[in-house]
Amino acid sequence: MPSPRVLVLHGPNLNLLGTREPEVYGRDTLDDVNRTLEALAGELGASVICKQSNSEGALIDALHEARTTCAGVVFNPGGYTHTSVALRDAISAIQIPVVEVHLSNVYARESFRHKSLLAPVCLGSIAGFGVDSYRLGLRALLDYLKRQ
Ligand code: DQA
Repeated sequence: MPSPRVLVLHGPNLNLLGTREPEVYGRDTLDDVNRTLEALAGELGASVICKQSNSEGALIDALHEARTTCAGVVFNPGGYTHTSVALRDAISAIQIPVVEVHLSNVYARESFRHKSLLAPVCLGSIAGFGVDSYRLGLRALLDYLKRQ
């Protein structure tokens, strides 16, 4: 099997990781997260492309592009998780597996975070393990792709 390429997509406000509410999201920066995932992908015989945007349209464009350039997506949609029909439609449209990840345990937080509009169209969801949520998501996605 050729080495799979995975899009790691970060949504709004995740560019501020490290300084944004560190008691909730930890002290690692987005660059730290991306470097960790690049290293893990290398160990697992894969590669990642990492992108972040604060705008819904740019996230949709990145998902559309991944349709033809990547085998799957690890996606932290940030606050759009709880609001975006358009991102849900994009995930349904691209027909490559998307794993939803969250740093925090969204179910232990405010009730508006308990509902994900995206989870039903994702391969699976991982929340609450900090940066390990991304690592677990990448492993799960690569295992799934290997089984296909
Ligand atoms: C988040 C959880 C969301 O509810 C929040 O809006 C975020 C980050 C997380 O990674 O825990 O921006 O996706």
